[in-house]
Formats: sequence, C-alpha cells, structure tokens
Amino acid sequence: MSRLSKLSRSVAGRVVLVTGAASGMGRATARLFADEGALVAAADRDDGGVAQQVKEIEAAGGRALALAVDVAVPNAVSSAVAQVVEHFGGLDVLVNNAGISALAEIDAANYGEAFDRVLAVNLKAHTLLIRACLPHLRKSDAPRIINIASTEALGATARNSPYAAAKHGVAGLTRALAVELGREGITVNAVCPGPINTSMTAAIPDDAKIRFARRRVPLRRYGEPEEVAHMTLSLALPAASYVNGAVIPVDGGLTVQNT
Ligand code: NAI
Repeated sequence: MSRLSKLSRSVAGRVVLVTGAASGMGRATARLFADEGALVAAADRDDGGVAQQVKEIEAAGGRALALAVDVAVPNAVSSAVAQVVEHFGGLDVLVNNAGISALAEIDAANYGEAFDRVLAVNLKAHTLLIRACLPHLRKSDAPRIINIASTEALGATARNSPYAAAKHGVAGLTRALAVELGREGITVNAVCPGPINTSMTAAIPDDAKIRFARRRVPLRRYGEPEEVAHMTLSLALPAASYVNGAVIPVDGGLTVQNT
C-alpha cells in the first residue's frame, strides 16, 4: 500500500536564520535545527557566544555560520542576511527570537527609555529581519517565518508594560503578515513561551520560581529551552504547510488555568 504522507518532516538541508542564538531558547533552537541537518545561521549581538555556539554545532557534525549583529540596527540586519545567502546560497526559515526584558512601572523615570529599547529589539527588529529576508524566502519552496512572542502576548504582568506591549505587537504582526504573505505561500506563526529556564529568568531565586510554577503552571515547573525549540522546529517543517497565523502557547498550561 502507498504511504499517505507526501509532506516532509525534515529540515535537513534547509537554511535557517535564528536570532538571539547565543543563549537560552535561541541557542537550543539553533542546536536542534543543526542536529536535524539544517544549515544554521546563528545571529546574536554576543559575538563570543555565537562563535562558541557555531564551534559546538560543527564539533557535533553540523553546519553553521556565526553572525555578530544587533537586530535593532537596520544596516547590520541587511548585511547579516546578505552574508547568510552568500554563505549558504539561500534562506528558507527565519526565527525571530532575540529579545530583552526590562521591568519598568508606567511612572518610572526611565520608562520612556525602557519602552523604546524593548519595542526596538522585541518588535521592530522582527520587521527589519522579515523585510531583509523576504526576497530570499520568496525563492524557497517551503518558506517559514516564526516569531518568538511570550505568554505576555496573551495576558500581562504588572510593571512589565513595555514587554507586554511589544509581545502583543508580535502577535499582531504575526497575524497581519500571515494574511499578507499567506497568498504567496509564506507561513507566519508565533510561539508564546511561558516561564522558561534561560538567562532571562536566571536572576529569579529558585524558591520563587518553584512557588510561581506550583501556583500558576498546571505542569508545576518551568519549561526548558529545548521544549520551546521543538515547537519552533515543528512550525518550520515543510509538513507544517497549512499552519499560518497561529499564536501558540508553549507554557505548561499557564494561560488556560483559571485558579
Ligand atoms: P536569553 O537572554 O537567554 O537569550 C536572548 C538572546 O538574545 C541573548 O543571547 C542576547 O544576547 C540576544 N539579544 C538580545 N538583544 C539582542 C539584540 N539587540 N541583537 C541581537 N541579539 C540580541 O533569553 P531567552 O529567554 O532565551 O529569550 C528568547 C526569546 O524568548 C525572547 O524573545 C524572550 O522575550 C522570549 N521569552 C522568554 C521567556 C522566558 O521565560 N525565558 C518567556 C517568554 C518569552
């Protein structure tokens, strides 16, 4: 009997650009794609971190390119994307993952500064990357854009309004571009991680993390970067060809728990 499935569940040979690839979820994502045979462009403003990441991927038998880039700087983004295409000969998948957090109350003296920086890195940079990648994604037979948002795109936490505004913006951007680019066969989706053990949450004391997870997360624990990376990988598969405009929580059930 012939097989039902005609769609590939492999990213082998696909060119994937991951931002924020030196740490946390970006690092896990770059590594996972490389383990699955993708050609990985690992971009981060932490040039040492991203060079180390590429060394580790190559030592494990994968192929990767390190890009030292601040994703909030338009010229740096364009030249990074040009380097990817020159090095690997094309681009199939963009993972907009780089992000920062900055707690600030609405009446704090530094609010404006925090707001501008968080919006620039967590939201506007996604548009810079997408605009730079688009001509190359248009040449791919399975083009994918995956934006890493947050459960702060679906709800909100006090003293975190710049971050929540940016992440709600990422969800909106994802939906709008899914509609705009869907007609060209380019899918645009977002992943919304809940609390994940990365350097972004490293300063939270362990007992506070445990208390929070027991109270708020049905799975009663923080997630690990790899658990988010697998969702990103799933959305990047050629077989994910009909998933478009989805904003998907990877949060242990946090956003569906009422009490
Ligand atoms: P992380 O701090 O471990 O890694 C973030 C990476 O982004 C770092 O390597 C950093 O150097 C890079 N980066 C920051 N600004 C950059 C810039 N302007 N240009 C280039 N690279 C830059 O953080 P994590 O947790 O892995 O965060 C990844 C994404 O996941 C972010 O968008 C974050 O907002 C989001 N997220 C994180 C959650 C968590 O609990 N850790 C929860 C929900 C979303």
